[in-house]
Amino acid sequence: MTPMGLFVSFEGIDGSGKTTQAHMLAEHLEGAGRDVVLTREPGGSPGAEEIRRLLLEGAGDRWSPETELLLFTAARRDHLERTIGPALAAGRVVICDRFADSTRLYQGLGRADLRPLVDQLHALMIGREPDLTVLIDMDPATGLERALARRGGEDRFESFGAEMQARLRQGFLDLAGEFSDRFVVIDGNRAVEAVAAEVRAAVAARLA
Ligand code: TYD
Repeated sequence: MTPMGLFVSFEGIDGSGKTTQAHMLAEHLEGAGRDVVLTREPGGSPGAEEIRRLLLEGAGDRWSPETELLLFTAARRDHLERTIGPALAAGRVVICDRFADSTRLYQGLGRADLRPLVDQLHALMIGREPDLTVLIDMDPATGLERALARRGGEDRFESFGAEMQARLRQGFLDLAGEFSDRFVVIDGNRAVEAVAAEVRAAVAARLA
């Protein structure tokens, strides 16, 4: 019998360490014999990776908030159709670095009050939530320091100041309250291995 697929997303502010944690979880589950697909947004399928470049490179005002929301949604739809959906149907564990909660947060709160539009588009075009969302909660000042230290070319979204980081952090905590059935909040201000152990426990509980 094929085991049931499990869809796990990681969320957190830039510099929260969620990408490291997603990788560690994937390695752990593979070691335990699970079939794992590690993926990320924006991106995760060839088409969505092309859209990623449109979204993350170039001037901050390259897109209006509405156009940006459409691009994130288009990328997610392709990712779901080509990567996530087929993997779950085959009984795999899908670990996704950011998913729709990032849109609720960054587009719904970050640039303009687009949250109602974000929700409408999500219902129309995505209509799927992760089974489990791991929020790596991080002190906003530390997160910003880390994010700025590794700045590359994909920096359209990383020019936020300390005040914005604090708002985003609170926004993620609010989302965790809103979707408390699928969110677990993990304190990321600790040693990487301690955080990873808590992530593993949260996922084991869902896999059981
Ligand atoms: P990501 O590649 O996860 O960067 P990081 O590893 O620094 O978190 O995401 C790039 C940026 O895209 C990030 O700053 C958040 C932003 N983003 C949105 O604004 N909306 C979305 O729906 C997603 C998935 C990401």
